[in-house]
Amino acid sequence: MTRYAHITGWGMAVPDAILTNADLEGMVDTTDEWIISRTGIRERRIAAKTDSTATLAARAGRKALESTTLSARDLDLVIVASASPEHLFPATACLVQDALGAVRAGAFDLSAACSGFIYAVHLASQAIRTGAINNALIIGAETLSRLVDWEDRETCVLFGDGAGAFVLEAGTTPGGVLAGVLRSDGSGGSLLAVPAGGSRLPASIDTVERRQHTIQMNGREVYRFATRVMASATRQVVADAGLTLDDIELFVPHQANLRIIEAAARGLHLPMERFMVNIERYGNTSSASIPMAVCEAVQQGRVRPGDHLVLVGFGAGLTWGALALQWVETRPAPAARTRLSLWTLFAHLRSLVLRVWRRLEGLFWGSASDD
Ligand code: ACO
Repeated sequence: MTRYAHITGWGMAVPDAILTNADLEGMVDTTDEWIISRTGIRERRIAAKTDSTATLAARAGRKALESTTLSARDLDLVIVASASPEHLFPATACLVQDALGAVRAGAFDLSAACSGFIYAVHLASQAIRTGAINNALIIGAETLSRLVDWEDRETCVLFGDGAGAFVLEAGTTPGGVLAGVLRSDGSGGSLLAVPAGGSRLPASIDTVERRQHTIQMNGREVYRFATRVMASATRQVVADAGLTLDDIELFVPHQANLRIIEAAARGLHLPMERFMVNIERYGNTSSASIPMAVCEAVQQGRVRPGDHLVLVGFGAGLTWGALALQWVETRPAPAARTRLSLWTLFAHLRSLVLRVWRRLEGLFWGSASDD
């Protein structure tokens, strides 16, 4: 029997703190008018000190699970797509796996910047369709505010923090993720990068003084690249799914710049009403922007069972990609919230016990080898 990969859960999490364009006027040489007219952004969310990419990811992941009949312990795979992971290693996905108590799941991070969520959903849906796994939790999560140079007006006005998540599950009803397009062009890697902090340029006084641990971007080149690939990837994925542009009820583009989305709509000869836009409230949240926009589209009643959607994104790498999917009816799970809260509590206790146990084991083995 043919297997399909359905999106059965979705959720998002954003920090409470809002940074408005007026706030930015007091920080760098910019204006509310410039930011709105050049980007469409009015405000963005900034993570509190107590929040991180992993905590936002875990919150979004838990919300996504709440609308399914799955518990975290049923998950086969956790992927976190992020351009601002918690560490070089361990993977943010492992921290999320532990926080949620996804005790049977494999977990890894995926680095494809703003295209990361598209890449991750495509890979997980293929694994589900082949029967390798039955379900997956895919999260796009960012705390880009930690990587922004708050003195660089060309980048600091653009980015924000947040997380969005999908639960994918195997099903036999036709639909779900229908097709995916993944592309890259590493020759443009330097157009958008955090140059230092990896093995090429390890952290040093020099890298800090040169501000090489923050986002460096050639905005005009990235803009040109983005307007070129958004329409082409959309056309490709729609054709691969055996559909036409007329079949697509809603396009959910990466929320990087309203003008890029408008250019893509013009390139596809489509009205802006068929595009989901929420950039004005969150800015560019990189890998989180597409799942967050899908969550809000569902919340606003813009996605109904049976609808066809295209998700399309681009980002550092350079990378770009698109997904065509058909939304399915989801099963209500009224008890899910309580069940998940109890399991989260258990997950915290389990994690604590494992840490203490590891310590004790270390002490024991340490003294044993001393003998
Ligand atoms: N406030 C006021 N003026 C500004 C600001 C600002 N915040 N930023 C730049 N300017 C100035 C520039 O210095 C320039 O001045 P000049 O003409 O005296 O040199 C002028 O505004 C125009 O600059 P441009 O770069 O031509 O402005 P543009 O219209 O291209 O908009 C922007 C700049 C918004 C960065 C645009 O190029 C863009 O959106 N690029 C794509 C960025 C993007 O999407 N990045 C994320 C990719 S996804 C990922 O992987 C994270």
